[in-house]
Amino acid sequence: MGTHVVILAAGKGTRMKSARPKVLHRVAGQPLIEHVLASAATIHPNSTTIVIGHQADVLERALSPHQNLGFVVQEPQLGTAHALLVTEPALHGQTGTLVLLSGDVPLLSPRTLRNLVEQHQSTGAAASVLTAMVDDPQGYGRIVRSGEQIARIVEEKDATASERAIREINSGIYAFALEGLFDAVRSIAAENAQNEYYLPDLFAIYRTKGLGVQAIIVSNADEIRGINSRAELAAVSRVVRDEKNAELMAAGVTIEDPATAYIDRDVTIGVDTIVHPGVSIEGRTTIGAGCEIHSGVRIVDSQIGDRVTVLNHCLITNARLADDVRIGPFAHLRNETDVRANARVGNFVELKKTVLGAGSKANHLTYLGDATIGEKVNIGAGTITCNYDGTNKNPTVIEDGAFIGSDSQLIAPVTIGAGAYVGSGTTIRADVPAGALAISAGRQRVIENWVVERKRKK
Ligand code: UD1
Ligand code: CA
Repeated sequence: MGTHVVILAAGKGTRMKSARPKVLHRVAGQPLIEHVLASAATIHPNSTTIVIGHQADVLERALSPHQNLGFVVQEPQLGTAHALLVTEPALHGQTGTLVLLSGDVPLLSPRTLRNLVEQHQSTGAAASVLTAMVDDPQGYGRIVRSGEQIARIVEEKDATASERAIREINSGIYAFALEGLFDAVRSIAAENAQNEYYLPDLFAIYRTKGLGVQAIIVSNADEIRGINSRAELAAVSRVVRDEKNAELMAAGVTIEDPATAYIDRDVTIGVDTIVHPGVSIEGRTTIGAGCEIHSGVRIVDSQIGDRVTVLNHCLITNARLADDVRIGPFAHLRNETDVRANARVGNFVELKKTVLGAGSKANHLTYLGDATIGEKVNIGAGTITCNYDGTNKNPTVIEDGAFIGSDSQLIAPVTIGAGAYVGSGTTIRADVPAGALAISAGRQRVIENWVVERKRKK
């Protein structure tokens, strides 16, 4: 028996007040719909169809990296029942189970989804819905039961005062038997406060027909939280962050203030690493053991070894930091930067596409771009690689043990040989051989009593 997934994502998301489709807003670094797709993939459906409508082209483009997704356009958007109906041609002749997911309910766990499908199939129900008991049901459809059985689902806008007091809510996640489904959905009317075709009405219709319907209560209500507004987006993001932080702390990471630690789901962090308040660690970042990440740091898609210290207010994107490195405060590392073991990068230093060799130091006010720097090199304060000539980016090579005096400019392409010295304030325009000293500043002149003389002339 086949399982087919349909994800509803055609709605305008009016309450978001956004130019962007609602399901492309991000939770933990990932668009809502990506969370839903990830969860759907775990039940290995025979097909996955996404109903798009509002800004359909934007959404389809955003999802184009995915293989095997079907798209169906719903235009205009007349409600969730109408949204399901437009998938009928795509699912024509299919049998088995249709799992209906909402593009704006991102936290559904694979376990809960599997459980829905299993219970739906084992009971032979025509329709099953995931529900939850919540303290604040506001905004959700309510599950009206008669006895144990679900009788119908009423939208908040259509509910009586006593129905509004019901704390069991509709998740908008369902499993349906495909047999007869579309005919039944076609019979749903739009006679309600919003003049929309409500898919939840199917439950009352099936009940009247004597078909099996069931509501399955999830234990963790957070899993079925929907996102309709920026406030709900923030609330759900917080749930994801709290879970991630709890998981990291349980695994031996110190997070000083979990309320201000923003760590994406795929990030890994080793034991005894300390994360100070106000840190963002994003994307595919890995951090080793025994590190210390100070306040105000943002790390994106980077690999960090063991015992690394990142002092306050560093921005590190797409970089690699080996063991025992020390960075910051106020350093900017980007674009394939590779800082090798024991190296030091100090304040107001920017590194781009640069290898800083083991034990090397660039401690103050420096730009190193497209540079390959050997081991135990000292880069003085205010050193600048002039890597861009207006047309091309040119490489700088600084070999092992070289010493670059402060306030030097290295006009690339250029090579400083092993152990060479560059005097302070030098503009390097040609290669410096190993072991040589390069200086370009002229001899210093001193004019005695110059200040006194000038004052007298005035
Ligand atoms: C819906 C349910 C409500 C449930 C809640 C759970 C209905 C009528 N109500 O309400 O009982 O508690 O979800 O989160 O179903 N969509 C379309 N086409 C449309 C309308 C909506 O594709 O014409 C999509 C939306 O993009 C969204 C999903 O369906 O992804 C749900 O629509 P939304 O308007 O957010 O419904 P809710 O008011 O949240
Ligand atoms: Ca919703």
